[in-house]
Amino acid sequence: MTHDLSAVTPDFAEADVRSIAAKLLQDATAAAQPTMPDIPQPLARPLPPPLPGIPPLSGIPPLSAVPAQAAPQLDSLRHASETTALRTTPARLQSESITTTHSPTTTATAVSRFVSQMSPGLDSITREFHRVAAQVSATPGSTRVFDPLQVRSDFPILHQQIHGKPLVWLDNAATTQKPRCVIDAISRFYLEDNSNIHRGAHTLAARATDAWENARQCVQKFLGAASPSEIIFLRGTTEAINLVAQTVGRCFLRPGDEIILTVLEHHANIVPWQMAARETGAVIRVVPVDERGEIQLDAFESLLGPRTKLVSLTHASNSLGTILPVEQMTAAAKRHGALVLIDGAQTVSHMPVNVQSIGCDFFVFSGHKIFAPTGIGALYARRELQQVMPPWQGGGNMIRTVTFEETTWSEPPAKFEAGTPSVADAVGLQAAIEYLLALGWPAILRHEHELLEYGTARLLEVPRLRLIGQARNKVGVLSFVLPNRTPEEIGRLLDREGIAVRAGHHCAQPSLRRFGLDATVRPSLAIYNTTSDIDRLADAVHRIATSPVKDPPGPPLK
Ligand SMILES: Cc1ncc(COP(=O)(O)O)c(C=O)c1O
Repeated sequence: MTHDLSAVTPDFAEADVRSIAAKLLQDATAAAQPTMPDIPQPLARPLPPPLPGIPPLSGIPPLSAVPAQAAPQLDSLRHASETTALRTTPARLQSESITTTHSPTTTATAVSRFVSQMSPGLDSITREFHRVAAQVSATPGSTRVFDPLQVRSDFPILHQQIHGKPLVWLDNAATTQKPRCVIDAISRFYLEDNSNIHRGAHTLAARATDAWENARQCVQKFLGAASPSEIIFLRGTTEAINLVAQTVGRCFLRPGDEIILTVLEHHANIVPWQMAARETGAVIRVVPVDERGEIQLDAFESLLGPRTKLVSLTHASNSLGTILPVEQMTAAAKRHGALVLIDGAQTVSHMPVNVQSIGCDFFVFSGHKIFAPTGIGALYARRELQQVMPPWQGGGNMIRTVTFEETTWSEPPAKFEAGTPSVADAVGLQAAIEYLLALGWPAILRHEHELLEYGTARLLEVPRLRLIGQARNKVGVLSFVLPNRTPEEIGRLLDREGIAVRAGHHCAQPSLRRFGLDATVRPSLAIYNTTSDIDRLADAVHRIATSPVKDPPGPPLK
């Protein structure tokens, strides 16, 4: 059997999308006939040439020309097929949904029969459809409706089996997975635009420099900074905090000055300050939390005083999920003339941020926590401070003139970006931010809130489970312990079920010690998680909690 898509014209309009869809439905229905013996072959006739920039994967005309207004069509088509695929087929097929027609019921039936007979030829067609649909729906301004299953389908890595079970990724506070549009943006950069920035005087150098600066503008808008020059690209949160500690800390702290942190901080927001304090004679003060894991604001206020020079706060705790009232805390710190740094590693993917509304001097985050690559992150630093902060690392890019006697610096942010930067990763970061924004904050907030509520309720049904961190304002972190198993054992048992969670101290030991613990199990949520992920987790934890401890869960994972 062949797939003749001759009705499809090269300039794809909405009607053409429908036409492709209708054709696929026809093929799917035919493929489902019991008499149809042969394996479907790839397309029968040569395809129109690919559109510039985006080579087709295989087998189907380059749908990258589908206009943004066709996104709703693609969305509803994919939704119908995915729902069916999820209900009726093994896990591998969850990713391989086929886009067919705009009648969900007909589609659902056809698809469920079709996917069970799927061949490699059709597989590649569906993948291509999937890829383009993700691109179209990630286009800013597209009228995409938030659907977690559809979001999930944008993340290729999620569609695999671990130990024979469909992967459930609940380790999002450690790192997030990457949507196909991010992966594509990075590979497109390496396929077409790769060059070092600034130094070259040729076309690719100009393209790479534009890509780098466009990404900076994107982050500026994302954080609500006043100017792109206030955004410094670095490897991530840890490097950004170290930069501030090593520049502001070293230069402006004096013996007896006070740095205020909270007990909820990640080690990345403790250790650099300890190093700076040790060198300067400054002192660290720590804000406590209550039993829920909420900041004790009166204690914070009473720590503030004339000696307070710097307040460095996590925006949300990675171990308990608590969201801190950073606007209120920043305002209080400002009344005492302190500088304020906000560690946004755990918030940027969960809620909108505006550094000017917060009123902070520094804001840091890591790209890999927001669906972007590892190795890229940003430091927002207020313009006036950038001018007085000394450079951190020396080398290329950050200088204006060099002689053996003296060097003068570039203007910020280049002053803080020594050496060849991670341009492709910045391109990936921009793609990730655009992807997230295209989903829309109201829908993300609603979805994650519902998931957190559902997850909390389901876990609290587990006998003797102790949930650590029950702040009223939380991101999707569900730290817990059980009396009959260590967190590491639970983590390994869940891995056997295909469920990825973190178990340990989460690089936030003081926050767990506050609750008398060294470690917890920490499922953490993201946009692509679903209630069925939560059900898988809760059911597995229930089994672990109620089963006798007889078989140890095996050696540590590699
Ligand atoms: C709140 C918080 N701060 C800082 C970090 C460190 O981030 P990175 O390792 O990306 O530098 C993390 C990572 O988990 C975090 O959750």
